Amino acid sequence: MRAQVAIIGAGPAGLLLSHLLHLEGIESIIIESRSREYCETRVRAGLLEQNSVDLLNETGLGERMNRIALPHDGVQFTFDNTYHRVNMTELTGRRVTIYAQQEIVKDIIAVRLKAGGQIHFEADAKEIGGLDTAKPFVKFMHEGSLKTIECDYVAGCDGFHGISRDAMPASMVKGFDRVYPFGWLGMLIAAKPPSEELIYSHHPEGFTLFSMRAPEITRSYLQVAPDEDIKNWSEDRMWSEMRKRLGKHEGLELNEGEILQASITPMRSYVSEPMRYEKLFLAGDSAHIVPPTGAKGMNLAMADVCVLARAMIAFYKKNQTHYLDSYSETCLSRVWRAEHFSWWMTTLMHTFHDASPFDQRRQIAELHTVFGSRAGQTLLAENYAGLPIVNWRP
Ligand code: FAD
Ligand code: DHB
Repeated sequence: MRAQVAIIGAGPAGLLLSHLLHLEGIESIIIESRSREYCETRVRAGLLEQNSVDLLNETGLGERMNRIALPHDGVQFTFDNTYHRVNMTELTGRRVTIYAQQEIVKDIIAVRLKAGGQIHFEADAKEIGGLDTAKPFVKFMHEGSLKTIECDYVAGCDGFHGISRDAMPASMVKGFDRVYPFGWLGMLIAAKPPSEELIYSHHPEGFTLFSMRAPEITRSYLQVAPDEDIKNWSEDRMWSEMRKRLGKHEGLELNEGEILQASITPMRSYVSEPMRYEKLFLAGDSAHIVPPTGAKGMNLAMADVCVLARAMIAFYKKNQTHYLDSYSETCLSRVWRAEHFSWWMTTLMHTFHDASPFDQRRQIAELHTVFGSRAGQTLLAENYAGLPIVNWRP
């Protein structure tokens, strides 16, 4: 097999890259270790920044999103028995949109396959090589045999547990890591959420977030111990924690319904520098992870892909290499700002059970400083609605 670009991973990063390249006549082959059904049903992120929504619309991927997604002008916070609404649209002119990651994945797979794009599911990448030669390759297992794609470039879009990051020489890579003393228990519930907007709630016993996937489907998260076993969480315990941590605020009501799905995710921050080695480019979770508070993971993957598509298009269409050369640096400056914001939202909203009495009071004061001030709210809203992304057309 031969393609201009071999893409490992059919998550948001790999699929979107393949689509953008296709729009400019550049062909790619995607290999994905999981089945199509698995990719299209995996419950993960759900909140899109304004720029991500605009990008999907501009590139012909917005049809279903515009029918079923839920745009939000504001976002709500509770702590210390107080309630605050941040009016994002008024403060920044932008808003956020709830549209599940697996729906975006479904939309891009359909569009790519309709255009004759090659996506090989249940194809597990085993080796990436020839990166410092004119003939890079990816070897993968598919239907019981080892196959090879020869290519000009490899895009490592295979997430945090993929093989791409490790294909870079260890001596050239530096990893920056932070692990948090908690995880999230995520629940999908057949009930109307407590409010039409998202609610982030700080409570002495732990953080909770109420989001949604549809007007009658709640997506909520509870802060739990990092090594928590889901077996310790009966449905009664989930409801009593959600009720307690949401608190009593006028207009916010916890509606019970069937818990359709529940699982626990650990939380960490991680950045690998650089994001490029010779003909290999990392994009999305393969290069960096953020804790989920503030919902930056999927949006960051899409922002990386715009930088990578621009670099590849400039190379193939204009014979320019400067965007390829500056890829890592361009991505990392935005990545680190998202890392900072996710760390800040996480430490601001969660409860550190080993915090000193001083730090507990300091944290409550910080919450009042941010939400009691228009400037504080604006800082949060600008980052939450999303920093600018580059134009993927050079
Ligand atoms: P991924 O979506 O991980 O895609 C990588 C793909 O590569 C996968 O399909 C994988 O199967 C494939 N792959 C891996 N190895 C190989 C191989 N060797 N060969 C072939 N294919 C391979 N973000 C939020 O903003 N909010 C959330 O609530 C949220 N919840 C999350 C919950 C979980 C359990 C996880 C893991 C992540 C969550 N995230 C969340 C983060 C967000 O989902 C990711 O940032 C986003 O999926 C990144 O997209 P990606 O395309 O870079 O990677
Ligand atoms: C969602 C997840 C987040 O981490 C967040 O900050 C907002 C929304 C969600 O899954 O809907």
